Amino acid sequence: MGKGSGYGKVILFGEHFVVHGVPGIVSAIDSSNDAIVTKAKKGLNVKDERKAAKGYSQEKRLQQIESIERMLKAMNLDPKTALDIWVGGSLPGFSGLGASAASSVAIARAVSEEFNLNLSNEQINAVAYEGEKAYAGNPSGIDNTAATYGGFMWFKKNPAGGQDLVERLKVYRPIEIVIGSTGKVANTKAMVEGVAERKRKDPKKYDPLFKQAENIAVAGRKALEAGDLKKVGDLMNENHRILQEIGVSSKELDQLVEIARKQGAFGAKLTGGGGGGCMIALTGGKEVSGKIVGAFKGAGFEYLMTKIGVATH
Ligand code: MEV
Repeated sequence: MGKGSGYGKVILFGEHFVVHGVPGIVSAIDSSNDAIVTKAKKGLNVKDERKAAKGYSQEKRLQQIESIERMLKAMNLDPKTALDIWVGGSLPGFSGLGASAASSVAIARAVSEEFNLNLSNEQINAVAYEGEKAYAGNPSGIDNTAATYGGFMWFKKNPAGGQDLVERLKVYRPIEIVIGSTGKVANTKAMVEGVAERKRKDPKKYDPLFKQAENIAVAGRKALEAGDLKKVGDLMNENHRILQEIGVSSKELDQLVEIARKQGAFGAKLTGGGGGGCMIALTGGKEVSGKIVGAFKGAGFEYLMTKIGVATH
């Protein structure tokens, strides 16, 4: 029997833009997906017991099977190896929190243990990246990197396919956030493909937005490292606006963002692939977090109140 786990994450700056080589900022959250893998006699039997948004496991099931087969291949194992796999853990299966990457890292670690492969973190990350392709098509690698290493990171994909730039960020102190879930399961792969296609068709509109995204990430890093949460919040609001412009927000995401701002958040934006899934609000403390949570509850949305800048591997 092999066991493993992987962190969930929130992207503070740069989702979608990171796929195209713009830097982004990600933080692991203090919730994980865990996996237990045991050699079986027949078939690939996945028991997914994650607390999930309605339809999450069913919606992702085919992608999950493809992901596991890709990872087995990347570990030089037969992709049709018979396995019993259990997936669970504290990270809810809301789209947008990197649950696919967290479960991929968890499964890769558990397989590595069950087959005595002794894979390093770097190798686990590379295997999980292969797994992510089933969920995201052309992933940047930001989710699996956060899921593997934890912590707060600056991430810039190498578009040529070589080593990505990953730098650990030192944040001033743990930062209180509230995550709001639309309850809608989103297809990250379709969202990523949609952005790439619109960008290809309309570079006049998209190129300046990508430049803005880069400036926001650079300014966001400075503000985070200086502990200027007000500035970080303003930049998150800006980031949400350009995410709206590239067509990845939704009615519910905008509604949650509005509620959070009205209740006093420093800033709020969608997080992850969008099109449903989750948003994140930077609250600055328990009092504002409490107000936001109350308003989310009142409007019928699920949420997670947590801190970032604390979890590392
Ligand atoms: C998903 O959490 C983040 C995206 O940018 C996809 C990726 O980077 O692989 C939408």
